Amino acid sequence: MQKIVIRGGARLRGEVRVSGSKNAALPILASSLLAVGRSIYRNVPPLGDVRTMGRLLGKLGAELSSSPGGAGVTVVDTSHITELEAPYDLVKTMRASVVVLGPLVARYGQARVSLPGGCAIGARPIDQHLKGLQAMGARIELANGYVTARARRLRGASILFDVVTVTGTENLMMAGALARGRTTLENAAREPEVEELARVLNKMGAKIRGAGTPLITIEGVDELHPIEHTIIPDRIEAGTLLVAAAITRGNVLVRDCLPEHLDAVLSKLRATGTDVTAEADGIRVRGRGELEPADISTQPFPGFPTDMQAQFMVLMTRATGQSVLSETIFENRYMHVPELQRMGADIAVEGRTAIVRGPSRLTGATVMATDLRASACLVLAGLIAHGTTEIRRIYHLDRGYDRLDRKLRLLGAHVRRAQGGP
Ligand code: EPZ
Repeated sequence: MQKIVIRGGARLRGEVRVSGSKNAALPILASSLLAVGRSIYRNVPPLGDVRTMGRLLGKLGAELSSSPGGAGVTVVDTSHITELEAPYDLVKTMRASVVVLGPLVARYGQARVSLPGGCAIGARPIDQHLKGLQAMGARIELANGYVTARARRLRGASILFDVVTVTGTENLMMAGALARGRTTLENAAREPEVEELARVLNKMGAKIRGAGTPLITIEGVDELHPIEHTIIPDRIEAGTLLVAAAITRGNVLVRDCLPEHLDAVLSKLRATGTDVTAEADGIRVRGRGELEPADISTQPFPGFPTDMQAQFMVLMTRATGQSVLSETIFENRYMHVPELQRMGADIAVEGRTAIVRGPSRLTGATVMATDLRASACLVLAGLIAHGTTEIRRIYHLDRGYDRLDRKLRLLGAHVRRAQGGP
């Protein structure tokens, strides 16, 4: 099994390009099931989760081909969908597989999907997805760890989400696109990835308004067609690279990212005293010696993203003073804290609140990644720690980051991959 080894202390310098968005690519690849034929997607990031989605679509009968060497072009041919089941073995490795549920029941009248179950960061139920499909006339059956949804044709419905859910909004937007009549989604997620999916569906012939706002309206159509599309950059990868520059007191231009997707992150970075400037083709960060503490509370977009909480926490270990972090989205998203404490961080967790006191002098250690964003946080800690840090279980990192170690090395970090360790 691979691990990452980092010798801390380098100041990052130079330019780095952000890859395509994982959380946009996954539902977009699933949306290909709504049409029959060849869809062509560009800027598809070469990630573990994207490969899992590819395997799932392949299992359903789609034919996939990707350009060699990760050049980011993926062709999905859905002319011969023969299976309507997303099996446990795939869904357990990536709970986002649930986004095939809406397209399959909408296009083929039936879908059987393994229930994702809980994950490291929380219980993560899909009750809102199922409530919405039921309101659209689907018969829902839960048995043997699977959900089966059946409907000759879905019908439009008014759906009010009890909680803001990203993939829930995406699943029901895709279902509504082929339903008979109008669907409205209230208290919908406003994430850029939701807006991007609506852009893709409208290109396929759907009639969706209001994506990016809390109220989405969908006029169902009878048919959708395959398209060509270039996927947006990954705002969480961009945020992670911006924090890497700030935490190492570096000077880095993060290219191809969209500032409007990162407002909450940029304003918190500025609040720490970090110099952040938008330039023609990206965002430049010039790190400062002293960092101010900053409190954050994770919220649905446009609030501060939960997927940046862990990265920001390690930045706050360098700030002079106390920062209070509140994780309001997931009930168990502090798995990185014990590892940071082992490196010398002063962090106290009380329920969903974490109090970070700094500045702490982190020292290199052997640490274990527990989930995707926790692994990114440990990489950032390794960049500033005195001595060498070894991060185990980096398969978590590769699920959602496109060769992060290589990008950091190009910016001057002393980071490499090695074999070994459980
Ligand atoms: C998406 O997950 C992202 N994943 C997550 O990114 C991200 O953390 C999350 O949104 C929040 O921004 C993808 O887009 C593939 P939710 P999702 O449904 O859609 C509760 C990463 O690191 N809820 O918005 O699964 C749920 O338990 C990943 O890239 C219900 O109660 O998250 C949570 O507390 C991690 N019932 C909250 O809502 C439901 O039916 C938000 O979850 C659905 C959700």
